[in-house]
Amino acid sequence: MVVKAEAAPGAPRSVTILGSTGSVGTQTVDLVARDPERFPVEALTANRNVALLAKQARDLKARLAVVADPAAYAELKGLLSGTGIEVAAGAEAVAAAAERPADWVMSAIVGAAGLEPTLAAVRRGAIVAFANKETLVCAGSLMMEEVKAHGATLLPVDSEHSAIYQVFDFERTDSVARLILTASGGPFRTRDRAFMAAATREQAVAHPTWDMGAKISVDSATMMNKGLELIEAHFLFGIPEERIDVLVHPQSVIHSLVEYVDGSVLAQLGTPDMRTPIAYALGWPARIATPAERLDLVKAATLTFEAPDPVRFPALRLARAALQSGGGAPTILSAANEVAVQAFLDRRIGFLDIERIVEETLTALPHRPLRDLAAVREADADARRIAAGRIQATGATAVGSR
Ligand SMILES: NC(=O)c1ccc[n+]([C@@H]2O[C@H](COP(=O)([O-])OP(=O)(O)OC[C@H]3O[C@@H](n4cnc5c(N)ncnc54)[C@H](OP(=O)(O)O)[C@@H]3O)[C@@H](O)[C@H]2O)c1
Repeated sequence: MVVKAEAAPGAPRSVTILGSTGSVGTQTVDLVARDPERFPVEALTANRNVALLAKQARDLKARLAVVADPAAYAELKGLLSGTGIEVAAGAEAVAAAAERPADWVMSAIVGAAGLEPTLAAVRRGAIVAFANKETLVCAGSLMMEEVKAHGATLLPVDSEHSAIYQVFDFERTDSVARLILTASGGPFRTRDRAFMAAATREQAVAHPTWDMGAKISVDSATMMNKGLELIEAHFLFGIPEERIDVLVHPQSVIHSLVEYVDGSVLAQLGTPDMRTPIAYALGWPARIATPAERLDLVKAATLTFEAPDPVRFPALRLARAALQSGGGAPTILSAANEVAVQAFLDRRIGFLDIERIVEETLTALPHRPLRDLAAVREADADARRIAAGRIQATGATAVGSR
């Protein structure tokens, strides 16, 4: 990870929020809105939630508002007419928004759609607050090379990676023995496979400790989220797969840990509120106040830990195998998972079909080296095509009343 010269603490920092209407996006807006003098807004982007995007753009006096879906352009234009706020639409316009000269860019689009805009921000050497883990999973080595080449600063926003970042010794990486990613275990932590086979969308998105977008909530239920995070941690911190462990910790108080060679274990703790890791990245290198509930360890009283169950949650094994296999395997894993999760959310397949479709797609495709972005796009497109075929075949064999 490249860390560039520190900005003066408290100095104004212009911001762009990619995915401002999502769960991470709205929480970033919440923090930015508390100090508009310090955080002037350059651009906000969404997929098609124009009503919220227009409101955010007006409230924050953004210079530019962009929707990825071209069909939503006219409505956004109408909602912002007379405000002087520029309006644009389309995937290229989202990437162009990231090219605009904001000091700090929040990458909070969900899925591989975030790749180009995040790269655009990295390529102009911005400080990039990084929530969009699928981007790092699908193009990890290439992204980290671009970060280095352009002197960008990548600040993790995922609570686990933010925790590790805060206690990781970047000066002496050989003193790090292992990373320990904590996981809540998701809504099905204590459920058996028969329950999961019949699980509904509503049950899968009901996360016990975090309030998040639909895709990441389902990923938490399958525990693929922890698999994606393991790959993300490998690329962010340069630690090999076999030295990254996962620990189930249902209270989500310890956000992750770093074990050093002398046996010391350092951790970051807090209540489960994404505004804390977002604020860490927004204020970095200074810390800024947040309204997050303070951690009361007496009230928390008991913190518990357990090993993840590889039989009930095979997604973690799939992610480890993909990282070991290397090349395009993580790209295929992430793309197939994205397509399968969407099919589950659309009630076209069952919950356990998600992991099966990911595994079948990983088996069906060669894991070629990723020499450039064209290779990433090809692996991503191939995986989406194979996964869509498997979903169609599954849908044909009755999913019932999900
Ligand atoms: N939520 C969390 O607490 C959390 C924690 C850690 C990491 N993350 C990661 O952060 C990312 C965002 O998660 P989230 O939960 O905030 O997701 P979310 O609530 O679903 O929001 C996604 C955002 O991306 C936009 N978007 C969706 N598809 C797009 C496309 N094709 N092109 C451009 N924009 C698009 C959405 O716009 P519309 O609103 O118009 O659809 C929305 O603004 C994910 O990678 C997730 O894994 C999230």
